[in-house]
Amino acid sequence: MADLLQSITLTVNGERHALCVAPHVSLLELIREQLGLLGTKEGCGHGDCGACVVLMNGKAVNSCLVLAVDADGADVTTVEGLARSGVLHPLQEAFLDEGAVQCGFCTSGMLLSAKALLDRNPLAEDDEIRRELSGVLCRCGTYPRVIEAVKKAGRQLAGQKEERS
Ligand code: FES
Ligand code: FES
Repeated sequence: MADLLQSITLTVNGERHALCVAPHVSLLELIREQLGLLGTKEGCGHGDCGACVVLMNGKAVNSCLVLAVDADGADVTTVEGLARSGVLHPLQEAFLDEGAVQCGFCTSGMLLSAKALLDRNPLAEDDEIRRELSGVLCRCGTYPRVIEAVKKAGRQLAGQKEERS
């Protein structure tokens, strides 16, 4: 069995890891079980719910569908990597302000899908936000509040970008 393990290196939330993984292990399993980062949730386990979304090289992916060996060399961000030095990301602040978090099971998937969008277009409108987040299911029905939160965070991020330029 040990000889089936493959060595990979990847960066998760800015930290580089060298790991040995079996070929069938998903990125989700690696994140939760090998790295102990439990903010990324497992819902369906086969690409239907979006609870497991993380950023891989800046793109939102269902981590249950990515083999860990295919993440070799990748730069991965999980929900634990959003806050910086104890300061919440504007999206996290806005989700709290707008009441976009109920049970929280979908929240990391929502946050990371929204981050992928706002990194490209901080002033995305409702339709684009709906489209981008359509792969993340919320059984608590927070969708309207999530959209408001994403727009609020986007305005803040656009303002910060303008100040810097
Ligand atoms: S756990 Fe990955 S999409 Fe549902
Ligand atoms: S907040 Fe409960 S599933 Fe979305």
